[in-house]
Amino acid sequence: MPKLTIDGQTVEVPAGTTILQAARQLKLMHEVPTFCYHPGLSIAGNCRMCLVEVEKAPKPVASCATPVAEGMVVHVMGEKAVAARKAVIEFLLSNHPLDCPICDRAGECVLQDNSMQEGLLQSRFAPKKINKPKVQDIGPHVVLDAERCIMCSRCVRFVDEVTHTHELGIFGRGNSEQIGLAPGKRLDNAYSGNVVDLCPVGALTAKEFRFQSRAWFLHKTESVCPSCARGCSITVETNESRINKVGQKRVYRLMPRENPHVNRFWMCDEGRFRFGFVDENRLVRSVAREAGRETVLTFQEAIEAFKRELDTAHPERTGVLLSRGSTLEDLFLARELFQGHHGKTDVATDAPADRPPSEDGFLIHPDKWPNSAGAILLGYGDHGHRWVEVLDDAEHNRLDLLVVVGHDLMRIAPMAQIEDVLHRVKRMVYVGPNATAGSARANLVIPTATFAERDGTWVNADGRLQRFHKALEPLGDAVPEWRIWRDLLGRYGTPFLATDEAAVFKAAASSIPQLKGLTYDAIGSHGVALKNAALKRADRATAGAVRS
Ligand code: SF4
Ligand code: FES
Repeated sequence: MPKLTIDGQTVEVPAGTTILQAARQLKLMHEVPTFCYHPGLSIAGNCRMCLVEVEKAPKPVASCATPVAEGMVVHVMGEKAVAARKAVIEFLLSNHPLDCPICDRAGECVLQDNSMQEGLLQSRFAPKKINKPKVQDIGPHVVLDAERCIMCSRCVRFVDEVTHTHELGIFGRGNSEQIGLAPGKRLDNAYSGNVVDLCPVGALTAKEFRFQSRAWFLHKTESVCPSCARGCSITVETNESRINKVGQKRVYRLMPRENPHVNRFWMCDEGRFRFGFVDENRLVRSVAREAGRETVLTFQEAIEAFKRELDTAHPERTGVLLSRGSTLEDLFLARELFQGHHGKTDVATDAPADRPPSEDGFLIHPDKWPNSAGAILLGYGDHGHRWVEVLDDAEHNRLDLLVVVGHDLMRIAPMAQIEDVLHRVKRMVYVGPNATAGSARANLVIPTATFAERDGTWVNADGRLQRFHKALEPLGDAVPEWRIWRDLLGRYGTPFLATDEAAVFKAAASSIPQLKGLTYDAIGSHGVALKNAALKRADRATAGAVRS
């Protein structure tokens, strides 16, 4: 392993490592700035922002494209390197608009950051700049401002190397060089939003986010994408000034978070832009409905009412549709309740999500639930009823009570069938975050928190246990689902003392062999691989759920 010195610090790295990668392993006073380098793309070495001095080399070298060698002595702050990097910034700013106050990327622009870091505050170029096309609609999600582009080519390399869809190219030469669409193409692939993250400046922006919020107002929380069984690592970005006001947009964007075991640096557009359910169409109060009269309940009144419903209906005439969107903690306590106290209740977790299956062999997984493997891990796949059987029981007057958690029935089965089910079933309890046709007809509704409003864990299709964090307070009276099952267990004489998700997880870990020894802290940012037979069964059961 070559050993080298960078700004006086010695580091030993594997052969083939670049100077930039070696430098990033050190805590340097002055980090090596970059534009075109990205660890998920090939090395282009075209921007020259990362120039450093290497002793015995005649001129500064691009650190992103230069492998280390034994005994190398590197000076990030060498006189020639500093001057060269200043010149790079000066050339870029010669044509870049200097209108940061009205640029959507201000506050998270790498050109701003590098200009400040490299200390170039004065340009020698005259104010006359080359004009290029602004506000070009290049795809369903992305807008291009060619004047702001610094020609780093990250976006072009992404569509060439990651999606292999080749929609973007570099056209023209010199000052007239521009990013543009290939003839006859639009930037319309399933991962197009990633070019916005990759663009270091405000040249590529997302239609869904541009000019919605200043970057410095956004609060970032580590989370996991809820939209399919891949479970890409993400950050949920919320605007703190909008927190907890019903009817206001609070989540502004979801961004991919680096996870070498799951999604590397990327996420699909469906997951990226599917978060409206956190702020829209929410249930915010527990409600009881009798003979057309609606009464708002406190949470404890709602739990009492739920227990009355469960006690009144015979367990054999009770059907329960749980959700594979629920967390391991929710499903663990629901299992304790329904299998422990309601032994004969038919509990199904395999109803499909409200979106059709789709897959691409990359990140998009056909199972649109984030926690199917978690449900199987808890034994639901082995012992649970199938959702079609629960609906069949309801249609044939074999149910007195139907409990639905998180499903919009109208979107998973034909409307006529669901109308029939809702007509025939005597009583219905709906538990979930969003209003649905079923929630509007239920005798009891208890609102729950979305994934953005609570902590929790899901197990993805590859058996990786991942943790997501609370980004927002739940709206109105919504509670995390596990609290409903915990309080019902208490009413049935099994007080469960957990006051947060970490404690519920601890209880689950002590009774489920595959989770033995795990804690919230041990799961970490990248999750933990669970390798066992139960999860292999999960793969098969998940495939079955998608087909049905
Ligand atoms: Fe780089 Fe952005 Fe220009 Fe693409 S549009 S070359 S990502 S600056
Ligand atoms: Fe090294 Fe662009 S980051 S040349």
